[in-house]
Amino acid sequence: MALSLLAARTMKQFLRCGKHSGLLIVAILVTNQAVSMAATKQHIKKESFGKTPDAQEVDLYTLTNKNGVEARIMTYGGIVLSLKVPDRTGKQGDIVLGYDNLEGYVKNNGPYFGAIIGRYGNRIAKGTFSLNGQQYNLARNNGENHLHGGIKGFDKIVWKGKEVKRVNGVAVSLWYTSTDGEEGYPGNLSVSVVYTLTNTNQLKIEYSATTDKDTVVNLTHHSYFNLAVEGSIVNHQLMINAGRFTPVDEGLIPTGELRSVKGTPMDFTQNTQIGSRIDRQDQQLIFGKGYDHNWVLNRTGKGLSLAARLSDRGSGRVVEVFTTEPGLQFYSGNFLDGSISGKGGHVYQKRYGLCLETQHFPDSPNKPAFPSTVLKRGKKYSSTTIYRFSVK
Ligand code: BGC
Repeated sequence: MALSLLAARTMKQFLRCGKHSGLLIVAILVTNQAVSMAATKQHIKKESFGKTPDAQEVDLYTLTNKNGVEARIMTYGGIVLSLKVPDRTGKQGDIVLGYDNLEGYVKNNGPYFGAIIGRYGNRIAKGTFSLNGQQYNLARNNGENHLHGGIKGFDKIVWKGKEVKRVNGVAVSLWYTSTDGEEGYPGNLSVSVVYTLTNTNQLKIEYSATTDKDTVVNLTHHSYFNLAVEGSIVNHQLMINAGRFTPVDEGLIPTGELRSVKGTPMDFTQNTQIGSRIDRQDQQLIFGKGYDHNWVLNRTGKGLSLAARLSDRGSGRVVEVFTTEPGLQFYSGNFLDGSISGKGGHVYQKRYGLCLETQHFPDSPNKPAFPSTVLKRGKKYSSTTIYRFSVK
C-alpha cells in the first residue's frame, strides 16, 4: 500500500517535468516491480491439470512464497513443471525444463523432466540383485540395465496430494503405495514426498518410505536446471563438494572403485565452468557423453550438508544443493538432442539443462562396499534435499 502511494507520488513528480519521460517509464517499472514483490503473500493454489490416457485426474499445485518465487508441481510423477526465481535485476525466469501441458509429459517420458524418481534412482546392473538370499529381477529399460525405477517408475504414476502446513513456507504432500512386485521390487512400499517452498527461497524435498518386506530404495528428484532460462548450460559454473567419484563402465554402471577427482575433469572442488573440460578425450567423459556420474560427497555428520553450487554469471542466479544423501549424480543433459520442443517452444538441444540428483550410489544393491540402500521391514527411509536459490 505504502509502495503504491510512493509510486503515484513518483509519477506525479516526473509528470511535472515532462522532458524526463524515459526516466519516468523506468521509475514506474522499477516501482511496480517493488510493489508486486512486496505485496505477495505466501499462498498455494490447486487446480485440475487434465487427465491421463487412462482417465486419472491430475492436479496442479502452484506454490508461491512471500518473495513471489513460484513452483508448479503436479500429481503426475510429482513433477516440478516450473520454478520461477528472480535474476540479479529482480526479473523472474523459469529455470527448469519441461512441457506446457500434461500430454507432453505422458508422451515423452525419456528425459524424466522434473520428476520424482523411484523406487531406485539411476541404474541397477542387468536389472537384478539379491537380498536375504533371494534374487529379484527388475524391469530392464536401459539396454540390459534397470534405470530410474523401471518401465513405469514413480515419474509416471499419479500421486495423491494435499496441501500441508510447514513453518515459513507453503507445502504440498504427495503419497503413493507401490505394490509388492511392482517393476520387480519386493514389498509394498508406502512413499511420501513433501515439497516445501520456503520464504527463504528454498525448495525443500522430504522423502520418506516404509515397507512390509525387506527391499531397496533410493529416491531422487530429476529437475533439469538452466539458470539462464535458455541456451546451453556449458557456461554455467559448478562446484561439487566431493573429493571422489564412482567411475563407470560403458553401460554407466559403477565399477565399484571410489576414485579421487584430483587431476581429472571430474574435479569440481573449486567453482569451474562446466564446458571447460567436458569434451576432453577422457574415458569417463566418453562413456558418459559428457558428465553423467555420481560424486561421493564430502559429508560432515548425518544432517544436511552442502553438495553443490551452480551459478550463471549472465543472470546472477545461484542454486545451492544441500542433502542428507551420500552421493550426487551430475548429469549434463547429454542425451537431449533437439528432438523435444518444450515449454514456450524452446527446443531442447544437447546440454540445454542439467540435473543435480542427490542419491545413494548407482548399483548399490550389487556393491556391498557402497552405503546400503536396503530398507528393512518396519524401518523408515528418510532423506531430505534442499535447492536454495539466490543471486550474486
Ligand atoms: C542418468 C542418465 C539418464 C538420464 C535420463 C540421468 O539421471 O544419469 O544416464 O540418461 O537420467 O534422462
